[in-house]
Amino acid sequence: MAKNAPIFVCAECGAIHARWSGRCDSCGAWNSVQEETGVAASLPKSVGVARAGKTRAAALVSLEGEEAAPPRLSAAVEELDRVLGGGLVPASAVLVGGDPGIGKSTLLLQAAAAFARQGAKCVYVSGEEATAQIRMRAARLGLEKAPVALSAETDLNSILAMLEAEKPQVAIVDSIQTMWLDSVESAPGSVSQVRAASHALTAFAKRRGSAVILVGHVTKEGQIAGPRVVEHMVDTVLYFEGERGHPFRILRAVKNRFGPADEIGVFEMTGKGLAQVGNPSALFLSERGREVPGAAVFAGVEGTRPVLVEIQALVAPSPPGSPRRAVVGWDSSRLAMILAVLEARCGVALSGNDIYLNVAGGLRVTEPAADLAVAAALLSAAGGEPLPAEAVYFGEISLSGAVRPAPQSDTRLREAARLGFNVAFAPSQVKPGANSGMTVRRIEHLSTLAGEVLGE
Ligand code: TYD
Ligand code: MG
Repeated sequence: MAKNAPIFVCAECGAIHARWSGRCDSCGAWNSVQEETGVAASLPKSVGVARAGKTRAAALVSLEGEEAAPPRLSAAVEELDRVLGGGLVPASAVLVGGDPGIGKSTLLLQAAAAFARQGAKCVYVSGEEATAQIRMRAARLGLEKAPVALSAETDLNSILAMLEAEKPQVAIVDSIQTMWLDSVESAPGSVSQVRAASHALTAFAKRRGSAVILVGHVTKEGQIAGPRVVEHMVDTVLYFEGERGHPFRILRAVKNRFGPADEIGVFEMTGKGLAQVGNPSALFLSERGREVPGAAVFAGVEGTRPVLVEIQALVAPSPPGSPRRAVVGWDSSRLAMILAVLEARCGVALSGNDIYLNVAGGLRVTEPAADLAVAAALLSAAGGEPLPAEAVYFGEISLSGAVRPAPQSDTRLREAARLGFNVAFAPSQVKPGANSGMTVRRIEHLSTLAGEVLGE
């Protein structure tokens, strides 16, 4: 390809196209193809240390046991360790993604200090802030004495040279969008640069046994080379999420080669940085006020951990035309499905109303088991009657209106009992007994719940 001829790269999957198109034929994403100049498509030659005759194959079974995996590094920050699957794995690459301003730099500076205090050699490279600014932030977080090596640099070749010399156990690069390699011609933040920089840093992690943590910004539209292309390269992908205006932040594992995905860590953004939240259910329910119609407590499970949250619904008369649907913290197509099931299977027609649904506290719920709690909140809002204050709800709803079993029901029941609830509206397969004094109201079909809530 001629030098400087434009190429077109998909920000989602990294596929290269000869011409611009509105849809990537490789992954099917819309509006993800961006123009870049240069021969950037191929990886730079200086990356990696491929030298003739160096490649070896090793036996899977190591007879001497000498190659036993080195232990994981613990941050001694329980919420972070759990999301990583029990600590940071040496030689692994981790991507921490999230919206700008959500607190990624704060989290990683705190993590860097925690690793350093455990005795691990830790380097924090910032391409966004000068070292003086990082020190100011550290001082605000009370971490100015932590033995972390700081570097403010965006030229990846000098960063790699520094890392080769320092050989840290943990290297944090904030953010991958600011890094650039001079062998790649496109601008920092472009797909080619982000991909080449991630490849170089991941290769460094594997080669030197350092754990590398990359920070990546995502915008709502997935623009500016959203770190999607990086997700395939790294071992672990964590997303840091939260609603603006809420202090709670959720660190969620969406991919983990060394531990369970779907695990979450809960933090609270305070004036002195991020504080761990050891008991998220109590926190998410703490905003609960008096009994009001439209509020149902969902007994959820995130990863291995039970999390109780309040689901709030409002059903309001709608002017003729198209009724409004607004959903925060849940999937809006799932809401449409529940409304259709309520109408078709239970005779509760809400389609002509405006409907607002909100998961309290800024948590985003993805479990299908939240269906029953959402349905209960909608029914209660429609009927204008509060649900019993001591009840929790969980169960997946099928298109027929049948309530299907949800995994880990014992965990849910135990957590609900611990927080003072005493009734669970649950799928009919849930057995009582093994749980701690909760009464289980088995709901086989959504119409049973509808009849009960609406008093028919
Ligand atoms: P930051 O870590 O810079 O976000 P990111 O790296 O994801 O862009 O966090 C920025 C926000 O966090 C900013 O709005 C201020 C807030 N914040 C606090 O509330 N308390 C603190 O102690 C710190 C350091 C930041
Ligand atoms: Mg930042």
